[in-house]
Amino acid sequence: MVKVGDNIKAISPYKPGKPISEVERELGLTSAIKLASNENPTGVSPKVKEALINAVSELNYYPDGNAYYLKNAIVEYHKTKGEEIKFEEVFVGNGSNEVIDIAIRTLIKGDEEVVLSEQGFVAYELILKAADIKMKLVPQTKDHVVDIDGLIAAVTPKTKMICLINPNNPTGTYYPKAQFEKLLKAVPQEVILVVDEAYFDFADAPDYPNGFDYRNMHPNMIICRTLSKAFGLSGIRLGYAVSTPEIVDYMNRVREPFNTNLLAQVAGIAAFKDTDYLKNAIKVNKEGKEYLYKEFNRLGIEYLPTQGNFMLFKVGEAQTSGRDCYDYLLHKGVIVRPVANYGFPNWLRLSIGLKEQNETFIKYFEEFLKTIR
Ligand SMILES: Cc1ncc(COP(=O)(O)O)c(C=O)c1O
Repeated sequence: MVKVGDNIKAISPYKPGKPISEVERELGLTSAIKLASNENPTGVSPKVKEALINAVSELNYYPDGNAYYLKNAIVEYHKTKGEEIKFEEVFVGNGSNEVIDIAIRTLIKGDEEVVLSEQGFVAYELILKAADIKMKLVPQTKDHVVDIDGLIAAVTPKTKMICLINPNNPTGTYYPKAQFEKLLKAVPQEVILVVDEAYFDFADAPDYPNGFDYRNMHPNMIICRTLSKAFGLSGIRLGYAVSTPEIVDYMNRVREPFNTNLLAQVAGIAAFKDTDYLKNAIKVNKEGKEYLYKEFNRLGIEYLPTQGNFMLFKVGEAQTSGRDCYDYLLHKGVIVRPVANYGFPNWLRLSIGLKEQNETFIKYFEEFLKTIR
């Protein structure tokens, strides 16, 4: 018997989307499609592939622990978007998940509290529980949007950090500029704001707030971005944050010396330069989203309009309908994501795929609906 803290015992392990190979092996299928983990369906950028092949022969060396060229590529990339950031304001990590983990472990201590929304990316709660940090969870609005007024009301002198996810996963909903500005005005400057923009590139609402536009209003902000989504590099694990040099310096003290591997650094540099790949990924997502809206409307299915590369939709009234539909689709080789753990037992989350993948999903989903209607 090993003694561990009650906080560790209370953690239910993160359940990732089922890998394609596992589903094919278990069900004897040959061409399963995965629309479960908000990955990029358009494949890997050819420029990234080429860079990776060239870098393989250097794998006998450790990577650059300071990720010099990668951080410069991040600075340059943001410059092309009119966002001026300095090298020492950039922190890189093994996926944005690790970046968030390090931010929380570095900056919170004792009885300081973290305020965040319910029904947001589950990794936050796992990280906070593992670090035994007190969290205040604020319910979403009835429209499944992060409740900014609720977050403001939850702030106390003990609040050290507020974590915001925009657009939110798994709902795909977003809080608009006016709401964000309201929060920035209401929250004391010393409270650290984590602004998780993992799906930034897919957001197309005119009033969607880009965290980079607000850094002056609230310097203690940590904007998190990832290469896992629009840049199509989930498998390589690369994310980054932009914050103050002070916060980045403290986070650098806590991270592992080589927390972004050599291939991730090389891939990231190439990915930031491949604007055609990014443009196409955004276009494919937009087209897929419009197709799915149209089909869900035709089928009379309730869904949440999304600012990400995924959608939450309501399968039926029965509490088991999410799980039943998931199983049905799985046996047809379509892997989607159950969201009962987020409090949506009769909903599912679908990552937006390629045209044919979306059509295959709709075909089998319609078949399933006939079994319950
Ligand atoms: C809102 C949000 N933040 C962060 C992450 C972590 O992404 P990664 O660690 O792959 O960068 C995800 C992954 O799905 C996410 O949905």
